[in-house]
Amino acid sequence: MNSESKRDKIIRVDRILLAAAGLLFAGISLATIVIDVTPEWKYYQSEFKYYAAEVADEAALDKIPTGVQQIWAKDLDRVDRCVTCHQGIFWPGLENVPQPYTTHPDLSIFKSHPAEDYGCTVCHGGQGYSVDYLGAHGYVKFWEEPLLAGAVASDYNISEKNALVEINCNVCHRYERQTAGMEYVNHAKNLIQDKACWGCHLINGSGGTIGPDLNFVGDKHAENLDWSNFSGFESVFNWHMTHFDEPAQIVPGTVMPKMGLQTRDRQALSMLMMSWKNNEYPSKYIPGFAQEEELRPEEIEKRERLLTGDGAFFIEKGCFVCHSVKAFGIESPTEKGPDLTFALDDTRVRFRQTLQEFVFDPSQSGTMSIIFGTKIVLTDEEKWELVNILTKANHIYKTQQNINN
Ligand code: HEC
Ligand code: HEC
Ligand code: HEC
Ligand code: HEC
Ligand code: HEC
Repeated sequence: MNSESKRDKIIRVDRILLAAAGLLFAGISLATIVIDVTPEWKYYQSEFKYYAAEVADEAALDKIPTGVQQIWAKDLDRVDRCVTCHQGIFWPGLENVPQPYTTHPDLSIFKSHPAEDYGCTVCHGGQGYSVDYLGAHGYVKFWEEPLLAGAVASDYNISEKNALVEINCNVCHRYERQTAGMEYVNHAKNLIQDKACWGCHLINGSGGTIGPDLNFVGDKHAENLDWSNFSGFESVFNWHMTHFDEPAQIVPGTVMPKMGLQTRDRQALSMLMMSWKNNEYPSKYIPGFAQEEELRPEEIEKRERLLTGDGAFFIEKGCFVCHSVKAFGIESPTEKGPDLTFALDDTRVRFRQTLQEFVFDPSQSGTMSIIFGTKIVLTDEEKWELVNILTKANHIYKTQQNINN
């Protein structure tokens, strides 16, 4: 074999190898393109036909739309494409098939919230315009509103995986006193009244100013919160959970009291806090909009009495955090100190001082010398007012006793 033919052969082998490599490369590119243009939803749409066949006839199956589907909730400024994969949402009979093909659990919810006006994300969260699984469910960086379902519920240790949806329900239903289908939030609204949080906070437009305005506290994102005393999984929800458990752990020196809240109470309150957003929905989407927050008659009476009556002093100054004053109907959420109805007589027994002496020189009481000295500093005028009010409280009590005897 001469050197010429040997070189030819090498070239031939080279060409074959090159061609093979080229084909392989083309094949890979083609596969990539095919995978790219076959989005996930196509797979779900073809699977859906299989499940739908169990409850529908040929004619109905032929009418199942294909391609990207969407609901344009114009007034809410949302385009929700969830139904591209969740094709069975409005089909009764598919309750027991796997996701994303199932019937919506509570179809009656669309009677009061027509899907064409509400879409899906206004209740569920997620990213309406996205049609890939992770994007649509909002499990992507910088998207503040992930789907409030199983994954987030497990991050927040809530066993009912759909309960967090109530955060979004109450963005609209905040002015209602109680709303069907919102167990956590309803419970939290009761706690706001029972613990008189409004004594210190502005809530739905009215209340006290010892603590921050809570009207739109739901707009606070993680970066607006102080994490320096927090440990654990950092989320707005968990910040509230810890703060409600032990306010002073998160904000050292705060006058917000520890209120002995159980886990469920704190979960409910955290959800309520996150729902108090300044939404930009048109007013027809807000039940009770332009009215005040709905209160029960006895709650209105209590609020009036506490904010305007003789007891107002103790609400305004924050004394009610630790002291009940039963004579004025004030009930402390913590009862750390004694009922001040009896202070007129009690300071003599407890501190060997008249009430007036105690108020002007509380040094016999470790707690009250700190409170009057640093946390709630009263002017001399206010001290006199206090002595007068507590004398009155005592008289109210004694008169009551005489009537009863
Ligand atoms: C008015 C509020 C609201 C709207 C609007 C709404 N949903 Fe729901 N959805 C709910 C609630 C509440 C549940 C949970 C019901 C339950 O657990 O019984 C739910 C449950 C679901 C579930 C089942 C979750 C599971 O646990 O398996 C899916 C899927 C779902 N919704 C999808 C949608 C889609 C898609 C749309 C838009 C067409 C939509 N929803 C519109 C309130 C809403
Ligand atoms: C690409 C297809 C796809 C799109 C688009 C999509 N989903 Fe899903 N969805 C799924 C699949 C698959 C599941 C079942 C797996 C799972 O539970 O995560 C599911 C499950 C769910 C569940 C139950 C979650 C749970 O924790 O049990 C809800 C609720 C839901 N989707 C709502 C939505 C909403 C709202 C949208 C629109 C913003 C949406 N989905 C868009 C595919 C999709
Ligand atoms: C975008 C705003 C919005 C969201 C989100 C929303 N709702 Fe509503 N809801 C309304 C409006 C508006 C009505 C109609 C009120 C009326 O007719 O007076 C309504 C009606 C209702 C009713 C009928 C009784 C009533 O109070 O009038 C119930 C129950 C209810 N919603 C529960 C829920 C639940 C549960 C959720 C969350 C899963 C939810 N809503 C989410 C706006 C909303
Ligand atoms: C004695 C007054 C007082 C009472 C009662 C009180 N708070 Fe507070 N709260 C404060 C003060 C002061 C702060 C600011 C310091 C801090 O974060 O603890 C605060 C902070 C908060 C914050 C954080 C707000 C923010 O913007 O950082 C929330 C949320 C809150 N309170 C909710 C509640 C709820 C709900 C209740 C009733 C269950 C309640 N508070 C009862 C005084 C009070
Ligand atoms: C953080 C809790 C706390 C706050 C807030 C607080 N107190 Fe007290 N107070 C106590 C405790 C505890 C005692 C019992 C003192 C002791 O035994 O040393 C007490 C005792 C008193 C007494 C004596 C009562 C008696 O029966 O002997 C008076 C009067 C009093 N406080 C007034 C006030 C007033 C007025 C305010 C509001 C300006 C206030 N306190 C705020 C915890 C508090």
